[in-house]
Amino acid sequence: MKDAKQHWEKIYQTKGDHEVSWFQDKPELSMRLIQKYTGEEKDVAIIDVGGGNSLLAKVLVDSGYDNLSVLDISKCALERSKERILDAPVNWIESDILSYKFSYQFKVWHDRAVFHFLTAKNDIQKYIDQVSGAVVKEGYLILGTFSEEGPLKCSGLEITQYSKSKFKDLFEGNFELVECFDEVHKTPLGTDQNFIWVVFKRN
Ligand SMILES: C[S@@+](CC[C@H](N)C(=O)[O-])C[C@H]1O[C@@H](n2cnc3c(N)ncnc32)[C@H](O)[C@@H]1O
Repeated sequence: MKDAKQHWEKIYQTKGDHEVSWFQDKPELSMRLIQKYTGEEKDVAIIDVGGGNSLLAKVLVDSGYDNLSVLDISKCALERSKERILDAPVNWIESDILSYKFSYQFKVWHDRAVFHFLTAKNDIQKYIDQVSGAVVKEGYLILGTFSEEGPLKCSGLEITQYSKSKFKDLFEGNFELVECFDEVHKTPLGTDQNFIWVVFKRN
């Protein structure tokens, strides 16, 4: 997905943290969910997929989590994130999530505002195959996307909106639904974005 990479590199080369709608000064909800599903065990393998310029990696490292991977298609995004936690032993992965070949598995797969950029049916299926292969049995998928009340586009790109039933149709089979709820994200520009969050447990 060369076009996607170019798009995201340009975004991070030209915009600061507070100029992009998804930025959060404190990724509190993600952190709370990760703590809940790791039982605060600090050495479990966690991946933040499409971590971008999020502070989540920093907050996890500062809280003592020491088996963290961050994957993003944008080198620039990873570098920005790396600068915040220079010495931490984070596994930084520059790749398209659809093509990365995982050689290990995770207890927690976290994705906030990345999955919804997939709009083609076969890309959505590829993502499901990736997460199904990369999460350990009884591990968790924590996923936040725009809901059916949310925006239709983000960063100039079309997105797919989700609902609880759409999530169930896609992921049940390999995963069991644990919880699903709505969230309103206040963007740095002061507008509201409707998200839906889901947590699945790997069968
Ligand atoms: C809206 S941002 C969300 C960033 C972060 N998760 C957060 O909550 O702040 C979407 C991120 O996904 C990354 N991304 C988009 N498509 C991707 C793909 N196919 N593979 C990996 N990363 C991707 C972008 O580079 C960007 O950093």
